[in-house]
Amino acid sequence: MANIKNILGNQLEQIKQDGTYKHERIIQTPQETEIDVLGKTVINFCANNYLGLSNDIAIKKAAIEAIDEWGFGLSSVRFICGTQTIHKDLENKVSEFHGKEDTILYSSCFDANGGLFETILSKEDAVFSDELNHASIIDGIRLSKAEKNRYKHADMEHLEELLKNSNARLKLIATDGVFSMDGVVAPLKNIVMLAKKYDAMVMVDDCHATGFLGNEGKGSGDYHDVLSDIDIITSTFGKALGGASGGFVSASKEIVETLRQKSRPYLFSNSLAPALVAACIKVFDIIENDQSHKERLDKNTMYFREKIKQLGFDIKGVDHPIVPIMIYDEKKAVKMSEELLKKNIYVIAFSYPVVATGQARIRVQISSSHTSEQLDYALQAFHNVGTELNII
Ligand SMILES: Cc1ncc(COP(=O)(O)O)c(C=O)c1O
Repeated sequence: MANIKNILGNQLEQIKQDGTYKHERIIQTPQETEIDVLGKTVINFCANNYLGLSNDIAIKKAAIEAIDEWGFGLSSVRFICGTQTIHKDLENKVSEFHGKEDTILYSSCFDANGGLFETILSKEDAVFSDELNHASIIDGIRLSKAEKNRYKHADMEHLEELLKNSNARLKLIATDGVFSMDGVVAPLKNIVMLAKKYDAMVMVDDCHATGFLGNEGKGSGDYHDVLSDIDIITSTFGKALGGASGGFVSASKEIVETLRQKSRPYLFSNSLAPALVAACIKVFDIIENDQSHKERLDKNTMYFREKIKQLGFDIKGVDHPIVPIMIYDEKKAVKMSEELLKKNIYVIAFSYPVVATGQARIRVQISSSHTSEQLDYALQAFHNVGTELNII
């Protein structure tokens, strides 16, 4: 007789045999550039802690004080009795930061993306999604009744062809602002141009950009100087913005109001905890008044990218702190990450099916908190292991 233990047990065994089983390494310290993992201290190059705020003293203090002032939890969804002054304050901060009319908080950006498309689009409408978009955009679009179009990754000719052939009432182009496997920014200038030409709206998921990318750190729209042309921005507090959790949608009053009325992950899920909300307000105070985190991140990113290229490695992207070091061979990429770990460098190897076959890589993520000594130590380790494995 069928039995779930056997069925899932066999599936799990298959995942292990396919080499795609995910082992969670357990960290025994706070999230920092140096962490204790597997009983030893390693330099961390795989967190999304771009601005080094995950263990920031001022942010922790804001969270602790908020527990005293506002309590631990709200035990309610927002529309029953779960909205405090600070929730509105944070929403206003995020709106001002992006120059948008309003913002709505979610428990995560996964929920923000999951609750967006089905709420604002109907079957008369159409969505145009980059094929490499994040899983949460894909799932969010699946839930909607709109006509679904998928364009080849960053392929503007394909996007134009699809837009041209659609007679939908509303057209929405949806893209990651930064593609996190490649550290590459979406071609938003061209996307905005096409949106204007075909009367479409633009939605950008800026999880890997908010707070640090672009002249003012306002994300991929700021980077391409088209921030005001982006209709809908979704993003997370779980990466550069303190790294705890929470997400949001910033857009026009009508879009945000509709989400408040009808978006299921918002309506039927508990409010963000006060400590998180107050700490995220502090994050915005910091990034708006102190450029030093962004400046150090930019400096570290350019330094590491330049030096790793000089060592002879092939990398992707231009100036994003995600630095994919291309190995192309899946076994070698895994071996490289293992050898680097022996030298106390913590990086992750990515291979098929996370990236295309033959595109195996080591993904390095730079933080503003990395010291020059840590970067130089890592570069030396990459040089040594790369040479031993005949990669450079
Ligand atoms: C592009 C992108 N969108 C959405 C998410 C989900 O964000 P959150 O962790 O807030 O759910 C992530 C996180 O991995 C992401 O990288």
